[in-house]
Amino acid sequence: MTIAPMTDITGASILVVGATGGLGREISSLLSQRGASLTLAARDEGRLAALGIPGTVVAGDVTRPGIPAHFVSSAVGAYGKLDGVIFAAGAVAFGSVTELSDEVIERLWQVNARAWMSLLREATPALTASAAAGGSPFALTLSGVVAEAPTAGIAAYSAVKSALHSYGVAAGRELRRAGIRMVDARPGHTETELSLHPLAGSAPAFAAGLAPLRSQRAWLRQSRRMRRISRALASKRSASLKGL
Ligand SMILES: NC(=O)c1ccc[n+]([C@@H]2O[C@H](COP(=O)([O-])OP(=O)(O)OC[C@H]3O[C@@H](n4cnc5c(N)ncnc54)[C@H](OP(=O)(O)O)[C@@H]3O)[C@@H](O)[C@H]2O)c1
Repeated sequence: MTIAPMTDITGASILVVGATGGLGREISSLLSQRGASLTLAARDEGRLAALGIPGTVVAGDVTRPGIPAHFVSSAVGAYGKLDGVIFAAGAVAFGSVTELSDEVIERLWQVNARAWMSLLREATPALTASAAAGGSPFALTLSGVVAEAPTAGIAAYSAVKSALHSYGVAAGRELRRAGIRMVDARPGHTETELSLHPLAGSAPAFAAGLAPLRSQRAWLRQSRRMRRISRALASKRSASLKGL
């Protein structure tokens, strides 16, 4: 992939939560190639260390009290500032509306939506400071196409992703004055481990997803997706990236 220079990303301190996931890893790797100073977060410390992407590693469950603040302070402690937060953590559950238990629905909410609300709250002072220092800070979520096209068999997952998207739209209106941009990317089905470790049920036979690097077509689509995310992060505006 040809990497164009990106002034705003070079030297930017960016926290990626869910950095070991299929999408988080892809985004982290791109940002690293562009000279970002990364703080890589997820629950499994061994997998974070094995990523091979330069950066500070911090392990923790983002749904637990105090962990979002810990992730943010780790990034600020490592690089003296925070210029961007990427929320690439999440989990799915499969099953009809009669099948999902309260526990599963609660966990879907916690990991896909509520954790982001806590993380954004904790990151806002540092992102505001970045804007005040002349930066162009951003907060990026990956809600997915289901946020706009709720899907049978994953109704609860669709609902929490809609909540994530909706929260970003409203938060963007609030945070615009502080100079913080919200970017919501809505990728279609991509073959990552997401559907291999659902909170409940098992994945239906999806049409073949975008398997990173499995085919020339997939590679082109992946490159296009990364270019769109890059352009959105480099621009000075909030963005909503549909059908990525
Ligand atoms: N793949 C798709 O088709 C697709 C499409 C649209 C949107 N999305 C969304 O994009 C995001 C990333 O998806 P993906 O496909 O990359 O999933 P993935 O491969 O399963 O990765 C999920 C990442 O989140 C981390 N994570 C999960 N629970 C966590 C928790 N409680 N605290 C901290 N980290 C946690 C995982 O690491 P640990 O397990 O070590 O914590 C991993 O790094 C998700 O929100 C997903 O809903 C995915």
